[in-house]
Amino acid sequence: MASADGPSASGPVVLGIETSCDETAVAVVAGDVVRSNVIATQIPIHRRFGGVVPEIASRNHLEAILPVLNEALDQAGVARPRGGGRPAGVDAIAVTNRPGLIGALLVGVQTARSLALAWDLPIVGVHHIEAHCWASHLRSSSDEDRPGPRADTWLALAVSGGHTSLLRVTGPGAMEVLGATLDDAAGEAFDKTAKLLGLPYPGGPEIAALADHGDPGAFALPRGMRGRSDLAFSFSGLKTAARLQIEAAQDDGRSLQGQLLADLCASTQEAIVAQLCSVTARALDQTGLPELVVAGGVAANRALRAALGRVCGERGVRLIAVPPRWCTDNAAMIAGYGAALIAAGMRDDPHGLDAVASPTLRGRPPTPRPRSA
Ligand code: KG4
Ligand code: ZN
Repeated sequence: MASADGPSASGPVVLGIETSCDETAVAVVAGDVVRSNVIATQIPIHRRFGGVVPEIASRNHLEAILPVLNEALDQAGVARPRGGGRPAGVDAIAVTNRPGLIGALLVGVQTARSLALAWDLPIVGVHHIEAHCWASHLRSSSDEDRPGPRADTWLALAVSGGHTSLLRVTGPGAMEVLGATLDDAAGEAFDKTAKLLGLPYPGGPEIAALADHGDPGAFALPRGMRGRSDLAFSFSGLKTAARLQIEAAQDDGRSLQGQLLADLCASTQEAIVAQLCSVTARALDQTGLPELVVAGGVAANRALRAALGRVCGERGVRLIAVPPRWCTDNAAMIAGYGAALIAAGMRDDPHGLDAVASPTLRGRPPTPRPRSA
């Protein structure tokens, strides 16, 4: 396929659009090389509500999408004809069309469909969680070595605000869920416990920062269901246990600050990381796969990355931790995964492409449950 970089080895140039939750994001990626990655976050807008308000998210996506699109094209150096028309050197459009908040997804999908029709470009709908995992292939420049998995089949741990899953990946569009959370996602466990501690949304980075000064052994919090041989996760008990510990401390007249707060954060992070590591270790042992990708917002967590490094080191497994800037929601991962899908011959009908709230993978039965309130 032609591209502004020439028919480079890196693949088609794809414009990616992401609006599934609270980031309006557009990127241009040439194969696996990120040429621009623009994100307008709504976090400050939703923070005062303690979480994402779907209708407010949709309206803000509507306001942000065109300025963000223009910025992403400009930063990528994509020339556009005066008065509109197809931008030079863009080969295809990719858009998150599942899973997510339906009103939020619709803004991205309608924008992408309109552009595909107006510019007569192929379009491909992208599964948000699959794209998180494929972000392991992204690089900043074609001079860098390819960072992604080398094996034909690899394991991915996808840990985000709404999903916690282990996937066996055999290629673009071919990801099988081996195990998922039965209740809350890991990011949700961080966010809900942070809320109990009086910390702002999103709670993951807040807990992680305070945990640096705390004792992870100070409070005993549950590490999921013991004695299971499957690959299920469960985090809802952790939140209840944290609430009981917080109430007990307050009953003793202690206020939630200083060392107590740091210890609660460190203990919460330790319990979440320990469970993610033990189930992932079981998956590595059961499958014998040689490479592990960790992706999604929670994969930005330094304690998790270090602990998975130990799990992989003990087993001779290669760990590919997605760089933190591509862990939390962004459109580079959508464009990069879109490029891989397009290169593999996949595309959608721009008239028929729909937004879908549920997390069903391409051609596979639904597995993880949608995010709870
Ligand atoms: O992938 P993501 O940006 O959005 C979804 O697809 O949900 O993930 C957001 C989640 C939030 O729950 C946030 O608290 C968590 O990722 N997160 C972190 C860190 N950075 C973001 N959790 C723990 N440690 C972090 N450093
Ligand atoms: Zn995400």
